[in-house]
Amino acid sequence: MKLLYIGAGFVGACSAAVSADSGHNTLVYDISEEKIKLLSSGDRDTIQSCLFENGLGDLLIRNKERIEFTLDYNLVEKFLDDCDAIFMCLPTPEIGETGESNLTYYFDAAEKLACSLLKRNQSKQEKYIIIVNKSTVPIDMVNHTQEIMDKAGVKNYGIVSNPEFLVEGKAISGSLKPDRIVVGAWAEKDFIIMRQVYQRFYNSPNVEYVEVNPKEAAAGKLLANFYLFNKLAICFDVIGRTCETFSDLQFENLRKILTTDPRIGSWGLYDSLYAGGSCFIKDARSLSHQLQTTGTNAILVNETYLANKRQLENFLGRAEKEAQIDWTDKTVALLGVAFKRDTNDIRNSSSIEIGNFLKEKQVKTVQIYDPAGMDFFKQVFPESNQFVYCKSEIECVMAIPTTPPIGGANGVDVIIIATDWPQFRGLGELILQLPNRPLIMDGRRMLQHNYIDLQQAGFDVIAVGSPFLKGIRNKE
Ligand SMILES: NC(=O)c1ccc[n+]([C@@H]2O[C@H](COP(=O)([O-])OP(=O)(O)OC[C@H]3O[C@@H](n4cnc5c(N)ncnc54)[C@H](O)[C@@H]3O)[C@@H](O)[C@H]2O)c1
Repeated sequence: MKLLYIGAGFVGACSAAVSADSGHNTLVYDISEEKIKLLSSGDRDTIQSCLFENGLGDLLIRNKERIEFTLDYNLVEKFLDDCDAIFMCLPTPEIGETGESNLTYYFDAAEKLACSLLKRNQSKQEKYIIIVNKSTVPIDMVNHTQEIMDKAGVKNYGIVSNPEFLVEGKAISGSLKPDRIVVGAWAEKDFIIMRQVYQRFYNSPNVEYVEVNPKEAAAGKLLANFYLFNKLAICFDVIGRTCETFSDLQFENLRKILTTDPRIGSWGLYDSLYAGGSCFIKDARSLSHQLQTTGTNAILVNETYLANKRQLENFLGRAEKEAQIDWTDKTVALLGVAFKRDTNDIRNSSSIEIGNFLKEKQVKTVQIYDPAGMDFFKQVFPESNQFVYCKSEIECVMAIPTTPPIGGANGVDVIIIATDWPQFRGLGELILQLPNRPLIMDGRRMLQHNYIDLQQAGFDVIAVGSPFLKGIRNKE
C-alpha cells in the first residue's frame, strides 16, 4: 500500500518505520527541516539523536527502499495520486493551563491537505482515500475533520480514528509487537483498508484488533491514558505518602503485597517525584475540559492532575522542611532531565520544574547529566555559570575539576535524582565516598539499596516513599 504520514515526531516517525517494515511504501512529511535532515541521514546515531528510540535507526536503515522523509509538499501532492491512507500525526498540546487541546497544528495540516486532495487524479478525485487520525484528539474530532474536507470539496474519502498507544522508549519494540490495534470507522470499506494496512497484526493471536466507531476510538485513548495516570497518582499520593508518613514501612514491601493481587496488577506501582511526558497530563486535562464544557463533573480527573503536581511540590519542599537546607549559593547535582529513562523527550519533565525552582532559590550552580536529553534541556536552560552540563553521572556528583572547582573544593551540596536511568542505581558506592556528605534527594528510589548505608555514613536522605532519613553523625 502507499501510506502518507504527516508529522515526523515520535508517533509519525515510529509508526511510519513500522509500516515500511510491514512492506508498505511510505512517505513522511514534516515542516521541520532539522528533523527531516536527521531522520533522512541513513545513520543510526544521527537518527537517534533526533528521536531517541531504541531500534528506530536500524528499522529506518533496513527499510530505506520503502520510506522517505520529506519537506517538499510537491512530493506529497504527487504521492497523493495513488495513496491509500494518510496518517495525521500532529501535536495536540494543551493551550496554557486550560485543558483545551491546541488543534491548530492539526487543522493547518488538514486544511492544506484538503486543498491537495482536490487536485488528485487530475482533479477527478477518483481514487478512494482514508484520512487516519493518530494524534490524541477530542472525542468529536472526526466531525471537525469531515467539515474541513467537505468544505473544501474533497470527495471519495473516509475518516478513521486509529489512536496511537506507543510507549516512548519502547516505541519500536512496542509497535512491532503491539498489545492492541484500535481502529474507529463509520464504514466497512474503511475497516477493510485498515485491515490491509495492519495485515501483519490483523490475524495475529497476540494482538487484540479492536474495531469501533471513530468517537469510541478517540475516547478510548483519552480514557486509557487517564486510567494509567490515575494509577500513578494513587501510587504517589496514597501509597508513597503512607510509606513516607509511618515509620517501618518499606515501599518495596508494600509494593509486593499489592502487586501480587492480579486485580491490582503491577503497572504504575513505583514511586516517583512526578509523572511527566507529553501525554498523561495533557490527555487528562483534555478529558476534564471536554467533560466540564458539557457541564459534567470531572472531580476525579482534576484531582489526579493535582495529586501529580502536589507530588513534585512536596518532594522539593522536603529539603527545607526536613533537612533545613538553605538553597542559596548551593551547588546541586541534577541527575536526569528526560521525563523518564530510555528517551530524550523532556516535555513536562520534572527537571524543568526543578531547574526553575533552583533558579528561584538562587543556587550557585546546577551540575546536570542525562545520557540522552541534555541537548533539549540546553534549549530551556542554556549553558551558563549557573547551569553546567557534565560528561557523565560520575562527573556530575563530584566537583568538576576546574580552577577553582565548580562544585566547591568538597563537591556538591545536594544530589537530586530525577530520572530513572538504570545506571544511576550504581552510584551509591561512589556517593558514599564523597567527603562532604551532600543531601541526597532520590526522586525515583534509585539508591534504595543504599539508604541504610548512606544514613549510617552520615548522609541525610530524602526519598519519595520513605520518611526523612537523618544521617547518623554522632560517630565522628
Ligand atoms: N509521544 C507519545 O508517546 C505519544 C503516544 C501516543 C499518542 N501521542 C499523540 O500523538 C500526537 C503526536 O505526538 P508526538 O509525540 O509524535 O509529537 P511530536 O511533537 O514528537 O511530533 C509532531 C511533529 O509534527 C510536526 N508538525 C507540526 N505541524 C505540522 C504540519 N502542519 N505539517 C507537518 N508536520 C507538522 C512537528 O514538526 C513534529 O515533528 C499527539 O497528539 C500526541 O498526544 C503521542
